Amino acid sequence: MKKSKISVIGLGFVGLTLAVINAKEGFDTIGIDSDKGKLKNLRRGKTDFYEPNLSKYLKESMKGDKISFTEDFNNVLKTDITFITVGTPSTKDGRIDLTSLKKVISELYNVLKNKSTNHLIVIKSTVVPTTTSQIVLPKLKNLKNVSVVVNPEFLREGNALKDLVKPHLIVIGCDNNKDCKALERYYKQFYKTMPEILKTDNSTAEMIKYANNAFLATKISFINSIANVCQKLPLVDVNTIAYAIGKDSRIGSQFLQAGPGFGGSCLPKDLSALIKFTDKFHDLNSFFKAVENVNQLQLIQIIKMLKSMKVLDSKKVIAVLGLAFKKNTDDLREAVSIKLVKNLLKKGIQVKVHDPMALDNFKNFFNKKISYCKKIEDCLKGANCCVILTEWDDYKKLKTNVFRNNMKELNIIDTRRILDPTKFNEFNFKAIGLGPGKDC
Ligand code: UGA
Repeated sequence: MKKSKISVIGLGFVGLTLAVINAKEGFDTIGIDSDKGKLKNLRRGKTDFYEPNLSKYLKESMKGDKISFTEDFNNVLKTDITFITVGTPSTKDGRIDLTSLKKVISELYNVLKNKSTNHLIVIKSTVVPTTTSQIVLPKLKNLKNVSVVVNPEFLREGNALKDLVKPHLIVIGCDNNKDCKALERYYKQFYKTMPEILKTDNSTAEMIKYANNAFLATKISFINSIANVCQKLPLVDVNTIAYAIGKDSRIGSQFLQAGPGFGGSCLPKDLSALIKFTDKFHDLNSFFKAVENVNQLQLIQIIKMLKSMKVLDSKKVIAVLGLAFKKNTDDLREAVSIKLVKNLLKKGIQVKVHDPMALDNFKNFFNKKISYCKKIEDCLKGANCCVILTEWDDYKKLKTNVFRNNMKELNIIDTRRILDPTKFNEFNFKAIGLGPGKDC
């Protein structure tokens, strides 16, 4: 079967990974974005964020002439399928901002009115229910050869390429089965073994994405609520509890890792958009509000631990290990690190930070106000307390003597539960969801 030609509009995280994986799988792919600087870097094989293997596959695809980058929408005419992956960020009050999507739809209209063969538009951007039927389709209704389907993305940063190759499910929303089938044909070209496909209407497909992210956020806020109770109870450890309830197949073990709260570009943003979207249904969204609230309060748990260690004083130095919102990414969106460091600086505390990938991005937030350390040892040197915020593998391997040999006071807060507490007996060691231990 001849492979479809692909265009991807919006080369952010989802768009670029999608474009690169298509090119790697042999599809002729054109990436379109309005950011000239980004396009220049991509043409040189440079990505503006870290994702395992992405740069490598990008360079390979460029060598094989499978991928190109442009800002010119006319290139859509050379392709059969256009994936829209522009961002749908939050407005200041937490609503979904559809500005980029609307702009892309009108640009596509201007270009596709000149196309005589069939064209498929795939909405991959996360959009609140009814966006496609009430905003997108009315704008394109005069285009006879153009079909529109909704196809939400479930990939996770740090694991994106693997998630694209092995999705748990493909959700396709469409107004008529013919349009759904058009996207199904593309997926048949992409996958040797077809994943399960769920076909539904546009609005249900849009709602599935929000339900999915809201449920993951709920699980995390649930386990963090349990974790906060565990901290008050001698010898009770939330990891053991998460293991036990995770064994129940009705619950499952994923997304039961207690920590500093969820961050990133998706769970906080989508939860907030869902809350604003459902505000019109009055009291029906108090549960989601509670999930969001628990998440915001996790930072207070860390501050309380710091207070109990008596390190919230302007003469103290705090070392923060891990800045990215999770491991295997350099993404700082909604990262707890930013909120914590802001809070510490307000109290006049000296802050030193380390992250294997996100250090440079962090400089944009705090410039010269804090110290940036390329080595873990340098970060720990002279510190009165160390707070681990991201679960990077490098930190999991840290031995007690790295802390002992460098820190001024042996205070550690492990918000990610990556160190074995039994090895840190001589330290003042605290962890999210670990009973109060010695001082109880
Ligand atoms: C999330 C979803 O997992 C993807 O399915 C979805 O496609 C994506 O949003 C999106 O909407 O595009 P992502 O934001 O990349 O993906 O990251 P997650 O792995 O979901 O982690 C989100 C946050 O929750 C991180 O801060 C992470 O550290 C935290 N988390 C996750 C926990 O605190 N505990 C856990 O057990 C799991």
